[in-house]
Amino acid sequence: MFSSMQKTSDILWQDAQHQTLFAILELIAQPESGIDAVRHLHDYAESHFALEEHYMAALAYPERETHVAAHNQFREEIASLLAQNEDDAGFRALVATFLTEWLRRHVFGVDKALEAFILASERK
Ligand SMILES: [Fe+2]
Ligand SMILES: [Fe+2]
Repeated sequence: MFSSMQKTSDILWQDAQHQTLFAILELIAQPESGIDAVRHLHDYAESHFALEEHYMAALAYPERETHVAAHNQFREEIASLLAQNEDDAGFRALVATFLTEWLRRHVFGVDKALEAFILASERK
């Protein structure tokens, strides 16, 4: 997986996956959405975080620890949402709004820094 992505000139997978995460969160905020959308978010976020963490480990990224800790915080939020037994659309929408804000800050903050690091590493 890693070697096949080394040739890209831009990190398209990262950008595309972020767009998908925002789209799933938008879906979760809709009143007609259900727990399946939250499960989808859980699975998709997990594969996205795993890929970023794979790069961080492979490239010995210096900011790895704090970045992974941020992912773990997001993981916990999704887990607590999944643990809700009631089908509470209002609560889901509230959490979706919170997670969207969180993700926006993460994507334009630490993820941008990681992207720059990966691109610089690939040029070496
Ligand atoms: Fe990240
Ligand atoms: Fe990300």
